Amino acid sequence: MSRIDVAALITALGGRESLQHLLGVGPSAVSNYLTKGALPNRARPLVCQALQERGYQVDPQSLSITALPLVKSGRPQARERQGAAILLIVGGGIAAYKALEVSRRLQDHGIKVTGVMTKAAQQFITPLSLSALTAQKTYSDLFSLTEEAEMGHIRLARETDLVVVVPATASLMARTAQGLADDLATTLLLATKAPIIMAPAMNPAMWSNAATQANLATLRQRGIEVIGPVTGETACGEEGKGRMSGPDTIVTAAVAKLAQTVSAGALTGKHALVTSGPTVEPLDAVRFISNHSSGRQGHAIAAALARRGTRVTLVSGPVNIPDPPGVAMIHVRTAEQMLAACKAALPADIAICTAAVADWRAQKPVKGKIKKLPGDTAAPTISLTKNPDILAQLSSHSQRPKLVIGFAAETDNLQANASEKLRRKGCDWILANAVSPDSSDGTVFGNEHNKVSLITSDEKEDWPMMLKTELADKLVQRIINTIGVVNAKN
Ligand code: PMT
Repeated sequence: MSRIDVAALITALGGRESLQHLLGVGPSAVSNYLTKGALPNRARPLVCQALQERGYQVDPQSLSITALPLVKSGRPQARERQGAAILLIVGGGIAAYKALEVSRRLQDHGIKVTGVMTKAAQQFITPLSLSALTAQKTYSDLFSLTEEAEMGHIRLARETDLVVVVPATASLMARTAQGLADDLATTLLLATKAPIIMAPAMNPAMWSNAATQANLATLRQRGIEVIGPVTGETACGEEGKGRMSGPDTIVTAAVAKLAQTVSAGALTGKHALVTSGPTVEPLDAVRFISNHSSGRQGHAIAAALARRGTRVTLVSGPVNIPDPPGVAMIHVRTAEQMLAACKAALPADIAICTAAVADWRAQKPVKGKIKKLPGDTAAPTISLTKNPDILAQLSSHSQRPKLVIGFAAETDNLQANASEKLRRKGCDWILANAVSPDSSDGTVFGNEHNKVSLITSDEKEDWPMMLKTELADKLVQRIINTIGVVNAKN
């Protein structure tokens, strides 16, 4: 009888102890099975049954796992329904062993999982273990000609609905933030167009290091969802934030993300106009009126729309963050320029005004620098004039987008003022956010988080504090759910 891959069976069953427990034997018996590549006859039906209960198809003769894990009854049959596929990138850390559990649980949801391992990851688990669990080849070498012939890295990056990195080490995060492509994992992360989830795991000092935090901010800004880490005892024995989130949390996030990608093409053929950032209104050659808007919220909305197949025109004032991928970018400085760019971008199906437009500008900006002459006692008088209201003008335009959405930045009477703005500006929805620097929710301007209430003419919904990227996804999902109704009315 040919050898049995006992190591693969052990992995599929959840470890050596599971096999010992199943067969009622000790560790030395299992070592014996591994050496001989054989199991006692009485063990075969038990092993077959246990594997089937775990959702695997097993050949009773060879005991090889020949097919993809079956979908367990009662679970949503995602793979059959939508053919969902995940690329599971395993980084080199002690938490790599949890990637095996993540892989198994993803498959419980009917998701096809293909493993990719960094060189360092192979110090902790073997590609064979991952392949045994996924019933797919596990990839690791960027320059393997066989792999290139079988499955070029670009194809591998593209033929997936989601990329999940477990664990995301400090090095993997840094290399991804830098856009390096120095191994298969980082090349795939750079080449993929699918959403990415990272589950970091590292020593607490490494996590809190300014370099890691800067990389984290960059990754989030680019739309990568970062799960955890959590506080607890880390592998190095230190207590603090750096422990990887549990497999359940990671799997829940991945399944939720996949549900979003199901609606990926939902806005294909639609055109969305988004405003973002501050406007800068000159007083003279060197001075201006502006505000602290960073463009994070508006840019995240534009990126989320683009990911759903929307043609996006993003009109933004000056910001220090990169242009989101896949959008037509128009850079402006003043409110008047922003209005002109918005009007030129019409017709559009959706308009979202996130920009913090300066309400006033200098009536006559001085060409040179206003001079402070020796002996001047009085400050100069600057006459201001009102800027055009872009949101109001889009709402009443002859080519009015079907759905016009504004934001209301308020320091007092949030709900009442936002509802009043909704009526006065004639938009369909307004997202009210408290922007007072001493607000209990923290400063919204420039921050990564936002907390809003969605207000329409007949309802109000309070959304919890979340990342601006998450808020963008939630808003876009809401638009997708609504746009069909709006279209039907017209
Ligand atoms: O850029 P971030 O740092 O990520 O911060 C995000 C944000 C705080 C800027 C954003 O969440 C937000 O609240 N944007 C609206 C800011 C604002 O100008 O609010 P407002 O209440 O003054 O204006 C109400 C609405 O009218 C807004 O949609 C605004 O874009 C629009 N408006 C205002 C004045 C004007 N002249 N033209 C306009 O279109």
